[in-house]
Amino acid sequence: MNVLAVCLGNICRSPLAEGILAAKVKEANLDWHVDSAGTSGWHDGEKADKRSIAVAKERGVDIEYQRSRKFIVQDFDRFDLILVMDSSNYQNVINLARNESDREKVKILLNYTYPGQNRAVPDPYYEGGFGHVYDLIDTACTKIIELHA
Ligand code: 4NP
Repeated sequence: MNVLAVCLGNICRSPLAEGILAAKVKEANLDWHVDSAGTSGWHDGEKADKRSIAVAKERGVDIEYQRSRKFIVQDFDRFDLILVMDSSNYQNVINLARNESDREKVKILLNYTYPGQNRAVPDPYYEGGFGHVYDLIDTACTKIIELHA
């Protein structure tokens, strides 16, 4: 399975989701490919936010290697599951979908923890709260592994 995590900037939340899910995939010996992207492209080529890198490092997950990139329509062909962090990301990605098959791939991440509630992973870029964001993503990724493994 190919999984893509998506947020706005691809520097705070989705890099954590990529790193956390990739670590769990490795631990579970699954043959999955995990990547991340941002809908905006504002931080193309940049490393993840220092605060995301630090919180991941504290928990033993390395995300230093990651570079921000923009979500593109071809990602619908390359990925089976597209995990968005909030309803704004959802709308931005759905707006690029070409058909029902594309639309079905897009899931709000926290619906794995809180089914049907469409809860958002809060954007920590301005407000902070990276530890809380890490925990929210971590719990949802555990559910994803349980569901699909
Ligand atoms: P992210 O957070 O979507 O979790 O990567 C943001 C990063 C950058 C900006 C907004 C949100 N920005 O406005 O540059």
